[in-house]
Amino acid sequence: MDGAAELVFCVNGRKVIEKNVDPETMLLPYLRKKLQLTGTKYGCGGGGCGACTVMISRYNPITKRIRHYPANACLLPICSLHGAAVTTVEGVGSTKARIHPVQERIAKCHGTQCGFCTPGMVMSIYTLLRNHPEPTLDQLTDALGGNLCRCTGYRPIIDACKTFCKTSGCCQSKENGVCCLDQGINELPEFEEGNKTSPKLFSEEEFLPLDPTQELIFPPELMIMAEKQPQRTRVFVGDRMTWISPVTLKELLEAKVKYPQAPIVMGNTSVGPEVRFKGAFHPVIISPECIEELSVVNHADDGLTLGAGLSLAQVKEILKTQTYHALLKHLGTLAGCQIRNMASLGGHIVSRHLDSDLNPLLAVGNCTLNLLSKVNLLFLPPFLSEEPGGAVLKMTILYDWEFVSAFRQAQRQQNALAIVNSGMRVFFGEGGGIIRELSIAYGGVGPTTICAKNSCQKLIGRPWNEEMLDAACRLILDEVSLPGWAPGGKVEFKRTLLISFFFKFYLKVSQILKTMDPVRYPGLADKYESALEDLHSRNHWGTSKYQVGNPKQLPQDPIGRPIMHLSGIKHTTGEAIYCDDMPVLDGELFLAFVTSSRAHAEIVSIDLSEALSLPGVVDIVTEEDLRGVNSFGLFGEPEKLLETQEVSCVGQLVCAVVADSEVQAKRAAKRVKIVYQDLEPVILTIEEAIRHHSFFQGERKLEYGNVDEAFKVVDQILEGEIHMGGQEHFYMETQSMLAVPKGEDQEMDVYVSSQFPKYIQDIVAATLKVPANKIMCHVKRVGGAFGGKVTKTGIMAAITPSPHLLHGCPVRCILERGEDMLITGGRHPYLGKYKAGFMNDGRILALDVEHYCNGGSTLDESLFVIEIGLLKVDNAYKFPNLRFRGWACRTNLPSNTALRGFGFPQSGLITENCITEVAAKCGLSPEKVRMMNMYKEIDQTPYKQEIDATNLIQCWKECMATSSYSLRKVAVEKFNSENYWKKKGLAMVPLKFPVGVLSTAAAQAAALVHIYLDGSVLVTHGGIEMGQGVHTKMIQVASRELRMPMSNVHLRGTSTETVPNANVSGGSLVADLNGLAVKDACQTLLKRLEPIISKNPKGTWKDWAQAAFDESISLSATGYFRGYESHMNWETGEGHPFEYFVFGAACSEVEIDCLTGAHKNIRTDIVMDIGHSINPALDVGQIEGAFIQGMGLYTIEELKYSPQGVLYTRGPDQYKIPAVSDVPTELHVSFLPPSQNSNTLYSSKGLGEPGVFLGCSVFFAIHDAVRAARQERGLLGPLKLDSPLTPEKIRMACEDKFTKMIPRDEPGSYVPWNIPV
Ligand SMILES: Cc1cc2nc3c(=O)[nH]c(=O)nc-3n(C[C@H](O)[C@H](O)[C@H](O)COP(=O)(O)OP(=O)(O)OC[C@H]3O[C@@H](n4cnc5c(N)ncnc54)[C@H](O)[C@@H]3O)c2cc1C
Ligand code: FES
Ligand code: FES
Repeated sequence: MDGAAELVFCVNGRKVIEKNVDPETMLLPYLRKKLQLTGTKYGCGGGGCGACTVMISRYNPITKRIRHYPANACLLPICSLHGAAVTTVEGVGSTKARIHPVQERIAKCHGTQCGFCTPGMVMSIYTLLRNHPEPTLDQLTDALGGNLCRCTGYRPIIDACKTFCKTSGCCQSKENGVCCLDQGINELPEFEEGNKTSPKLFSEEEFLPLDPTQELIFPPELMIMAEKQPQRTRVFVGDRMTWISPVTLKELLEAKVKYPQAPIVMGNTSVGPEVRFKGAFHPVIISPECIEELSVVNHADDGLTLGAGLSLAQVKEILKTQTYHALLKHLGTLAGCQIRNMASLGGHIVSRHLDSDLNPLLAVGNCTLNLLSKVNLLFLPPFLSEEPGGAVLKMTILYDWEFVSAFRQAQRQQNALAIVNSGMRVFFGEGGGIIRELSIAYGGVGPTTICAKNSCQKLIGRPWNEEMLDAACRLILDEVSLPGWAPGGKVEFKRTLLISFFFKFYLKVSQILKTMDPVRYPGLADKYESALEDLHSRNHWGTSKYQVGNPKQLPQDPIGRPIMHLSGIKHTTGEAIYCDDMPVLDGELFLAFVTSSRAHAEIVSIDLSEALSLPGVVDIVTEEDLRGVNSFGLFGEPEKLLETQEVSCVGQLVCAVVADSEVQAKRAAKRVKIVYQDLEPVILTIEEAIRHHSFFQGERKLEYGNVDEAFKVVDQILEGEIHMGGQEHFYMETQSMLAVPKGEDQEMDVYVSSQFPKYIQDIVAATLKVPANKIMCHVKRVGGAFGGKVTKTGIMAAITPSPHLLHGCPVRCILERGEDMLITGGRHPYLGKYKAGFMNDGRILALDVEHYCNGGSTLDESLFVIEIGLLKVDNAYKFPNLRFRGWACRTNLPSNTALRGFGFPQSGLITENCITEVAAKCGLSPEKVRMMNMYKEIDQTPYKQEIDATNLIQCWKECMATSSYSLRKVAVEKFNSENYWKKKGLAMVPLKFPVGVLSTAAAQAAALVHIYLDGSVLVTHGGIEMGQGVHTKMIQVASRELRMPMSNVHLRGTSTETVPNANVSGGSLVADLNGLAVKDACQTLLKRLEPIISKNPKGTWKDWAQAAFDESISLSATGYFRGYESHMNWETGEGHPFEYFVFGAACSEVEIDCLTGAHKNIRTDIVMDIGHSINPALDVGQIEGAFIQGMGLYTIEELKYSPQGVLYTRGPDQYKIPAVSDVPTELHVSFLPPSQNSNTLYSSKGLGEPGVFLGCSVFFAIHDAVRAARQERGLLGPLKLDSPLTPEKIRMACEDKFTKMIPRDEPGSYVPWNIPV
């Protein structure tokens, strides 16, 4: 083997030569830290979020072709890049040179909010356009399948990308020969007043054209290198790892013989996550990237041979021309586009993942593997029981694939590992209808692919009929047995899927047999054929109808106009700077936390010695280093910063390692040894907390009317309960902070991704024991927050600067995704119990509700969440007699905290669930009962605040009309009567979202506006830009007030240095409150300048500023808003806690697959009353983004905890937020005409949170569909469905003969893998 010292590749056209490359380095940190190309972001480190997407281009000297493909830089070892060209977002375009049409269009179509996901989105679309300059909509959505966005709800991103499609706006998938543009969905009228009557939020005419000739070319130098360079094995040697890249099969074999334990790394999508997350370490890696034989494609007479080194994306392309529908089906949903382009066929087979999608299919599909081993060339079945000793060269698949089918069900439609998947094949031979061969293999139900060999053997010789089906189901359940405690949980669901899939296969084959011999095989009744169809999958996207501006408004006045997010272009070019994008400072240290691994335990000892002995480790911060300040209270009860005596949850901060690099700090953190003594009790669930009476303080209560008396007069009483799981914030930018000591007077700057700089300032000052005026906290922008960057951020920020006391250095702390999810908590899980008294016509006269939230181990904001939940529990309804009580449970889970909606999404769901049950009892539609009980006109809330519900009713009526509710209700019923295995559901929910923070002081805001002598203006205010576009709105405000163009106004960020004591940014009020302060400051300035302006009305701002200066008039003003009047007296149950109400309604339609539990959102219509919109583009973005986040909350986002309190779901691979494929096929948002709202900023309303709740329209639409299925099956009793309504819950609620057939485990006879908390 010949060693090559240099690694050569190109980044954005620039050659990079690495002489001493460390094979452990991945491309992402290399780009960000070494090349300072910080546009490529870290979101998860495991290939699951797409934030790190780059384009890789490779030249093949044999075919002379260049392949461009998207890849996740977080999983790409740089050693694998020899000879490759890497394009990052900076190479695509920049504001300094030229922005690329992709960047321009995503920004101008309002496809960015916090912007953290945006560079990854840009790179995915850019790469697609490099390969397909006029893509189809399917190609677009496929390309975006591996990119997550937590803010936008994807619709505007798709809108932007659609402008590149050949036939923009068309579904391009003609069903029954009819295009979506010619026919309404469901054969019903299209959204009538779509963008035909309302102005568009962007103008396509101004877009730069896409010109493929302008793209960066493949570096000729690399081409020459590939052509000329003698092919020889390259070896890169690092401190701990050696990377060997053989270029011939012989060398590969030699390497494998010499290092039998060394993995053969191709895509690194299996090895990489194991190293990163499971602590695997490989001293030697063999990477045979360049071996031609691994890329063969050979079409022989009987089959197709594919090289093991081909990527899954390449395999998909090749198979498109063949008849391998089953394989193609799985290749279409397996992972995201990036992973499919990186992962190899050989790697997929050999890694033998338990949930591998292809292995079950290959196992049944008569394939052979060709293995090169030191012994010989071997032919193996592709289903490997253990890792083979050699290298897989290629695989041959026979063409004979008619009776092969693939099935899979995952938590999310795309880019989610299957819960269960399966490959099934039957062969009948000449006998016709008699089984000659049968193969069934499953994934997700054992440690690797499981074949139901015995069952298949026993079924051979049987005819393909119902008896065989019945026997097969019993045999399969017997053979593929899953214990109740099986890893991954969902055991009964998995058992049901095993046979539901077989049933689908049975039907599919029966249908084929029918076409072959209709006499012998009469086939299925039409009604049952729906089992075979895929869920509705038309790609037709949304419209938004916003308010048309006032014709009298001056053209230069930006208020009310759809102005692009101020940082939109910078988001798309990667130039927007986030906390961890700040360059590494001299002497900078990195801090990594050590967290508790027990839910409730005494710490017996902590051994730091091994960690301290590692190279690069500088210090370990323990309680002593905090010099007596080890707690801080924001909400009454002080919270400990570091815990060294008794831990009360897994993930509690114990100590923190400080080292000279991130890698060293994290490595050392793993070496801190803690000995625990477990303590009792361990309380994890709400039910356990109730049993132990473990609450934070007493109950919170609100009573109105006389509930007990009302119960005596009602026709019926029902009692019920609903459990709602929590939610992870999943902001794309993880918790980040950088503390920089200034070197004198104990001053320090803290740069942090936080919603509450004042709190960070206070807590840091307290821990460093200096006055607040020494600590300045700066926030340029935040990559998503949603309530999760307040309290826990503060605690971590308090600890981060402490090493400076000893070492005087800047300290950085950036959490990995898994740590972040473990430590920071999220939305509170809830248990809601209710007793409703109602009349037979659906009028609810009495409601008695109890709320319990799982607060976790510390108080945090839990009581406040309960209080807000209570105040909002009535949602849109007038309940004449009610009693609400709430408790915050103290449990041994990480403390839960604020999350968009703050108690309302849970509280509202409980109420709506109760109404749905009342409707069922009365035999009425829930919508009818909703309307009947709604507030009408002027009324009083349970806390006796006046409410004018005119706009609520208007939203409801408009939503009914625009969604064609009545027609579609009939269509849904017709569909349901014609289809047994697929059901549709339709539901509409109203919204009354009270806006306010229960305290005048908490709503005060301040701003500072300077006018400089050149006439330019600098605005500063106390709000944080976290994607909602508050800075953009503030510039709009300044522009209107000062009557100057927006381009003249600048905003640098938020700092405690410019605006002191600012309140937390949250509660939908950031633009409202700060806007009033900015307005005040501008008006002060204008008042001062009016005499000057009137003296020279034609002058410029430069003239006026100079004149003011010359006359000694101050050009700087603070603005102030003292806060809305707000009070609440819990003793009397009366108050005026909120300033105003946001009204709305949403109607959603879904289709479910009763056999698998899958659901598809077909259409959602949202109507909102938003007052006068300041910026309709940003407001639509808030509504849609919140709606999609809510939809995730109520349907697929499922946190899983072990019975020991360990959070399993710690990354996008396990925790599924909505992806692009989850957006409703049609999404229409419209606003009511502007309404006056006297006290607010230009009569606008805050929209950050309300939309989350509307996501529950999808929950209730699924509920409706499940009820229809159950009714058809004769199940007429009450239907209890908890949230999130996952595929598991949907499937298990659609009870049928299969759910009856599965074995059930006796509760208490086993310890389940996970527990609902
Ligand atoms: C974010 C993410 C999402 C995913 N989603 C899905 C999904 O939905 N469905 C699904 O089925 N899978 C999914 N996967 C798994 C993915 O399919 C596998 O990780 C991938 O196919 C492995 O291929 P690789 O080339 O990257 O393997 P590598 O990581 O490079 O190698 C994996 C193993 O294979 C061995 N190996 C590789 N090539 C050879 C060879 N030629 N001969 C002998 N041994 C070899 C290596 O020694 C190693 O042990 C996902 C993975 C990620 C990271
Ligand atoms: S950071 Fe690479 S995919 Fe998430
Ligand atoms: S804009 Fe996509 S994550 Fe924030």
